[in-house]
Amino acid sequence: MEREEKDGDFLSAILVIFGGTGDLTHRKLIPALYNLVIDQLLPKNFAIVSVGRRNKSEEDYKIDMYQSLKEHSRNKVDDKHWAKLAGMLHYYQFDFTDQGGYSGLKDYLDELDLKVKTGGNRVFYLAVAPEYFETIVIGLHTSNMTKKPGAWSRLIIEKPFGKDLKTARKLNNKLLEVFEESSIYRIDHYLGKEMIQNIMVLRFGNSIFQSIWNNKFIDNVQISLTEKLGVGARGGYYENSGAMRDMVQSHIIQILSLVAMEPPVNLKTDSIRTEKQKVLEAIEDITPGFLRNNVVFGQYGKGIIDGSPVPGYREEPKVPADSNTETFVALKLFINNFRWAGTPFYIRTGKRMGTGSAEIVIQFKDLPNILYFKDKEVQEPNLLVLRIQPNVGVFFQFNTKDFTSHNGIIPTKMDTSYYSPTQGNTPEAYERLLYDILRGDGTLFPRWDEVEAAWAFADKIIKYRENKISQFPNYDAGSMGPVSAFELLARDGRKWWNI
Ligand code: BG6
Repeated sequence: MEREEKDGDFLSAILVIFGGTGDLTHRKLIPALYNLVIDQLLPKNFAIVSVGRRNKSEEDYKIDMYQSLKEHSRNKVDDKHWAKLAGMLHYYQFDFTDQGGYSGLKDYLDELDLKVKTGGNRVFYLAVAPEYFETIVIGLHTSNMTKKPGAWSRLIIEKPFGKDLKTARKLNNKLLEVFEESSIYRIDHYLGKEMIQNIMVLRFGNSIFQSIWNNKFIDNVQISLTEKLGVGARGGYYENSGAMRDMVQSHIIQILSLVAMEPPVNLKTDSIRTEKQKVLEAIEDITPGFLRNNVVFGQYGKGIIDGSPVPGYREEPKVPADSNTETFVALKLFINNFRWAGTPFYIRTGKRMGTGSAEIVIQFKDLPNILYFKDKEVQEPNLLVLRIQPNVGVFFQFNTKDFTSHNGIIPTKMDTSYYSPTQGNTPEAYERLLYDILRGDGTLFPRWDEVEAAWAFADKIIKYRENKISQFPNYDAGSMGPVSAFELLARDGRKWWNI
């Protein structure tokens, strides 16, 4: 991955977090920063300014953060490292909807610059609800906070980046009035996960995979992101999102492009992003006619998860009793290029499912039933499973002689994966992402044209769903989704693999 080979003063910066008292800061950002302190991966001259509306002293703010840290940090909190982080941490009280207040923030940051020797470099993290993105960027711009001669400014935007193609374009145009594309970091926390970064290494670092990674050898690809969790307290957000926007437009599309991309000409950020984007361009046109047989939407009803009863989606807080929001999507799609034409990609994501995992299954084509498989009804295929979470690693299935019989053949399963509690939506992914942003490496962040293509794709499916009468709820919490999601593959003579 491309890195700016600069160090020392160049990396010095002030990280300004809008939403400094919010959930994301408590649960992810501060724990991530704490662990970067431990790993000595923060710049020498560095300050964090948390901007929040709440009236509290800096001391009280630090006490709050200390509590969160104890709850969410992967490393035990010790006095030495906490003192170091606390020394960098500042609280600035300000209502960011008040355009008149930005000049005060500017003065505060300029003063801090001199104290900490951060040279005017800024990273602005918008850890706020999306309706405030534009307001904040306008405030930063009009108060002249983003363009200081000889210094750089970067912007971090949390998802959702727009709610459809139109709003995403509008937002992006606003951002581009103030920041250059290369200074905008759109967070997709899946890209911070180890196994997602490993996809390219496995594909392009192993001759065995590189040569068989195409429609001649691969029967189908399955990308499955399932969760046991329901929407919990996020019903208000989820009602405007649904699984399509929440998971497919972002995480699943990113994984799809990494699995299907051509080898980039080098490991530079833009070379990688360009190849990812081309995959999205090659997705076969998603027409309503195509969708009729190739997409399944679902919503969970009540059920049992891990032995305990859980409510249905419509009974969750802030969810209307007649909600038609989808909490499950399964979809078949084709990538029409020379590498993939004819090989289906099946994607599936859902909340309140029987198992919670993120996996990519590559199913290889069967051999002709001539020799060993002549008398067997079923031939176990070669499967390569990239396990993202909670198990992390690679699983491979291949056929061998069954030593307990004369002529039997059994599938042998090789599994390098191990259980890793840190691969969920945890601060760990943010450690990597924050570190990369401070170094100016945008490889793990989608470029605008990728986001645009992802919305163009998702919009068609969302529109189709909105015009469709759904019989929700149509799967029980604790199941693996609606029956029609199984039929989607069964019609093609295939099945979902839950290995
Ligand atoms: C988020 C979604 O982006 O990803 C959540 O908004 C979802 O709804 C989460 O639960 C899943 O992330 P992870 O890392 O726990 O798989």
